[in-house]
Amino acid sequence: MCGILGILSSQSVSENLLPEKLLEGLSRLEYRGYDSAGIATVHDSKIDRRRAAGKLKNLKALVNDNPLKGTIGIGHTRWATHGAANITNAHPHSSPDVAVVHNGIIENFSVLKQSLQAKGVTFESETDTEVVVHLIADFLKNKLSPLQAVQQTLQQLQGAFALVILFRDYPSLMIATRRGSPLVVGCHQDELFVASDALALVGWVRQLCYLDEGDVAVLEKTETGLSTHLYNSDAQPVERIWRPSQLSAAAVTKADYSHFMLKEIFEQPAVLSDSIQSLIGVEGTAIDLPDLKLDPGSISQVFIIACGTSYYAGLVAKYWFEKYFQVPTQVEIASEFRYRQPCLDKKALYLFLSQSGETIDTLAALSLVKQNNCKTLAIVNVPESSIARQSDQVFHTLAGPEIGVASTKAFTAQLVNLLGLGLYLKGDHNQDLCQELRLLPRLVSEVLNDQSTYQHVSLKLAQAQHALYLGRGLQYPIALEGALKLKELSYIHAEGYAAGELKHGPIALIDGQMPVVVLAPYDEWFEKTLSNMQEVLARNAQVIILTDEIGAEHVHRQVTNKSTLEMIVLPRVASLTSPFVYTVAVQLLAYYAALHKGTDIDQPRNLAKSVTVE
Ligand code: AGP
Repeated sequence: MCGILGILSSQSVSENLLPEKLLEGLSRLEYRGYDSAGIATVHDSKIDRRRAAGKLKNLKALVNDNPLKGTIGIGHTRWATHGAANITNAHPHSSPDVAVVHNGIIENFSVLKQSLQAKGVTFESETDTEVVVHLIADFLKNKLSPLQAVQQTLQQLQGAFALVILFRDYPSLMIATRRGSPLVVGCHQDELFVASDALALVGWVRQLCYLDEGDVAVLEKTETGLSTHLYNSDAQPVERIWRPSQLSAAAVTKADYSHFMLKEIFEQPAVLSDSIQSLIGVEGTAIDLPDLKLDPGSISQVFIIACGTSYYAGLVAKYWFEKYFQVPTQVEIASEFRYRQPCLDKKALYLFLSQSGETIDTLAALSLVKQNNCKTLAIVNVPESSIARQSDQVFHTLAGPEIGVASTKAFTAQLVNLLGLGLYLKGDHNQDLCQELRLLPRLVSEVLNDQSTYQHVSLKLAQAQHALYLGRGLQYPIALEGALKLKELSYIHAEGYAAGELKHGPIALIDGQMPVVVLAPYDEWFEKTLSNMQEVLARNAQVIILTDEIGAEHVHRQVTNKSTLEMIVLPRVASLTSPFVYTVAVQLLAYYAALHKGTDIDQPRNLAKSVTVE
């Protein structure tokens, strides 16, 4: 969702450079999803800002035509919540004295706005953010210092947010604060930075400091140099840990790939290999999770709580945990979990899955479970994320930064961790499974070797208005994930169904135009899924079956009407580990369908990489 960046440079940095750097940093935040952008600096005793609707290139053109200067500045990419995605609602919001960029939502903005309006304040935008500007400006008029004005304002705000603030009369001062929305401060010899996401700072900083909930950071330039002072939510000075930045520049470039998503799909063999090695070692024959402090014997059941693709990873785990490891498992959509006031089980393990570690609904569910003193474990891909910091224990996925909005390698990395966790809970030293796991990077590479098939077959999807994905058993969650990938990337309406559900309604949708993607490895569910495929073929559906060599032989033998049938033959894989191979195939189908349609693959319309508002 929205992205924040603030830069405070020492005098030795040219004042023409900072706006350029703000724009470069914002381009690294584009992947989060946004629909307008803006920057502001303090220069010549005034706040100067440029804002543009649409993509960053519009803002860059504006700054090019009408440059701004300064050694202190803030920037923002806005994903609209309150008010349309136009220039007036774009950040930074400003009065003559104060400029603010904001992530998250000020929930009580309407009451605050009314009381400010009653004092004669006029508002130019429809946003919730603008109240913050006027509240701070009002406190400054009453002779409070900038820090006091921010602290007093914070006392009036409800919601989850991160803010970075500039002051016209204090051109060497920037204040940043967070509540429920992440912020990281970075430092380098000549510059201080604050950002909503460490990826914005790759290559610029050596040290990072993640703000704690409620912290206020005061970034300042004095005659003796640059300084950062931190205060906690009780306005007391605090120290936080500074860590070396671990991110490499390669993580934020596309290399030779046309899209981040394609690069990330192709990174999966390496991600799987690293993840599997971290579980079982190079030669190992048993799962080893020395960092997990859980007593499997004392766990009554597992609740997996997540959103979107992470939720589908949870559904795969439910099949693994119950069928193969006999661990009772419930999977919950995080956004609904707290609404039904769940009966929490003190002996259960509550497992939170999130690529970003910032998804607000998953975070809220975690907080509910923690308030009730239940055991929590998070599987996250961003080590310093809020979910990672707030769970009792963390089992990190090793996917590396994922920039494409549609999750790919983070999903398969989640699956590895879930399989490892299932084995750990079962206390199973399953040599055969270790062997199967070790084969996965090679099997996934084989799928990736065959791009032309996907390019060709996905045309069928690209030409359609709607599509269905069918799967049984372990392929059912992959059918859901395949359908989600297609709709996210190509805007084609797609639904995944358990193949057995077909006759209970969805079959009414089938006609000669409807593509149906059938996920059918030759496993215990194959024959039944094949029958469902026959039913849609009999109604002239445009079928794409994903199967293996043995499955393909059966299709050749049993299916007479093949005129509307396309087949993709995938490597033969053990049933338990088949989700990995079939996931990569549905990712490629969605990628190439979107490529045919010419949509914005890395940043699909309306989507955000981390969903930080409810
Ligand atoms: C995945 O392609 C989606 N962009 C989305 O469903 C995502 O998985 C969901 O928002 C959850 O995000 P998280 O894993 O970061 O919590």
